[in-house]
Amino acid sequence: MLSHPQRVKKYTQMYELGVIVRDHAMQDYHAFLTNLGEAKTLSQLVEEVLARKKQCQILDLGCGNGQALMDLKTQFGKRVHVTGIDLLPCTSKLDEFIQGDAIEWEWPRHQDLILCFRAAHEMGNVSKFLTKILANLTQGGKAFAWIRTKEIINGKVRYLGEITIEEEAFLKKLSAFTSYGGAKLQCKPMEGMLNGTKQFGFALIVEKPL
Ligand SMILES: C[S@@+](CC[C@H](N)C(=O)[O-])C[C@H]1O[C@@H](n2cnc3c(N)ncnc32)[C@H](O)[C@@H]1O
Repeated sequence: MLSHPQRVKKYTQMYELGVIVRDHAMQDYHAFLTNLGEAKTLSQLVEEVLARKKQCQILDLGCGNGQALMDLKTQFGKRVHVTGIDLLPCTSKLDEFIQGDAIEWEWPRHQDLILCFRAAHEMGNVSKFLTKILANLTQGGKAFAWIRTKEIINGKVRYLGEITIEEEAFLKKLSAFTSYGGAKLQCKPMEGMLNGTKQFGFALIVEKPL
């Protein structure tokens, strides 16, 4: 396992090439939710929370530059409180930004929506990731994560980021569950093609009852 400075160095080097996008906009997040099987857009999910509360707390894990959160701020203003966590710096002025390892650092509690797109495989430790989601979602809260696990190139399997065969086995086991830790759970295996390579992963949706 990599130490914290090794992790920061690895991902700083990877992202400084500027090839991998880390500032997806809200429209992209809408599309990611659709891919996970969610019928509502991110804006509709926020509106659903705002129908029963004054302010919606949103946490984006591996937020990158926080573009999607900034778009939500533009749309909803003070009715949303947006927090991002990322290993690397974020240039957007979010309500709150925590620079650190999302698996190791404490998250703000009582979140209505927790999002994690294209980042969970770089965090690894899926079991701790899920435990933290359950601990920090408020009653009635929902979490959505797209967890990429591996790809196959020229017949060779390559696990992505910090994902190991054990992490994948844990996700496979979870996919048989419909509830976990008092919450409704969906962990659906997904596969598809990306830039000519076959990609595998899981769509994780957690819903805490009201
Ligand atoms: C591909 S980018 C995606 C960013 C954003 N979610 C988006 O879709 O534009 C993945 C992000 O995860 C962050 N990341 C990697 N490991 C992390 C960790 N352990 N804790 C928090 N963030 C991490 C990276 O720094 C990077 O900004």
